[in-house]
Amino acid sequence: GEALRVGIAGLGTVGASVVRVLTDKAAELTRQCGREVVVVAVSARDRNKDRGIALADAAWFDDPVALAKKAEIDVFVELIGGETGIAKDCVEAALAAGRHVVTANKALLAANGVALAEKAEKRGVLLNYEAAVAGGIPVIKTMREAMAGNTISRVFGILNGTCNYILTRMEEDGLSFADCLADAQRLGYAEADPTFDIEGHDTAHKLSLLTSLAFGTRISAGDIYMEGISNITQADIRAAGELGYRIKLLGVAQRTESGIEQRVHPTMVPTASVIAQVDGVTNAVAIETDILGELLLSGPGAGGNATASAVVGDIADIAKASPGFQHGPVFGRPARELAPYKRAR
Ligand code: HSE
Repeated sequence: GEALRVGIAGLGTVGASVVRVLTDKAAELTRQCGREVVVVAVSARDRNKDRGIALADAAWFDDPVALAKKAEIDVFVELIGGETGIAKDCVEAALAAGRHVVTANKALLAANGVALAEKAEKRGVLLNYEAAVAGGIPVIKTMREAMAGNTISRVFGILNGTCNYILTRMEEDGLSFADCLADAQRLGYAEADPTFDIEGHDTAHKLSLLTSLAFGTRISAGDIYMEGISNITQADIRAAGELGYRIKLLGVAQRTESGIEQRVHPTMVPTASVIAQVDGVTNAVAIETDILGELLLSGPGAGGNATASAVVGDIADIAKASPGFQHGPVFGRPARELAPYKRAR
């Protein structure tokens, strides 16, 4: 078949890794998708920065909105980040132009996911966001596509690689909070503004998407009780350890009789539990349902390659879809049918 034409906006840690994977694995992807996947256009802030990637035939756009609107592409990949502003503008422009969209932007979706899903569904294009939650773990596809018929009672997990990396190294290597955070930034795990990681915002954004998928409700990130890890000390970690616990930053969403409860905070988990063994940048998501029982997914939660793996998977899905194929709803059921969010009392 004809090549799938991809445009990428944002060439930071994740964007550069996506270009690298699409280039290095081009032959493998062509075999898997039955057609070539080609990056034909890119946009980033600094044209002259050396990113160690080959952008040979890709057209350069200074303006990602212009790329979304004007480039001859089938898929627009948004890897800029941010809840509003340029990321939102270019995703809206891409959907309006009838392009499929792939994004890793949890902040954008937490704030605007339902409206964007409605636009995508109206245009009959895909809005794929596997990389937005728990990095490389395929939790969105699992919840959206593989759990039909299940009634979910609870979803929870370790959703921020930076925080889990910090807590693990503080405990195992006795390092200070500041040194661990600096390492997480150097390794490309942290958000551009790491406050989003350590104060719990990033976990809350991801949790709000899982909540919508789990309970079929509209996204309500603003409703989440939130407490980060910036006040956790070595003494806290040691005290927890003496009692047989480890401290993890968890996001938890559950259905109660009075509504839905969503919270993000440091939690003492028994050292022997599976979730306590999840170390470093690894994330884990637990899902409890009536039919399946308990499911636990774990894997790399942040970093260029892990996140690129999910982005490339989303692009490949689009490459494999047959022409005229009617795409499924973005949040597992049609966006206009998502139930109003009701907060637990
Ligand atoms: N800063 C995020 C994290 C990146 O540390 O988990 C992945 O979303």
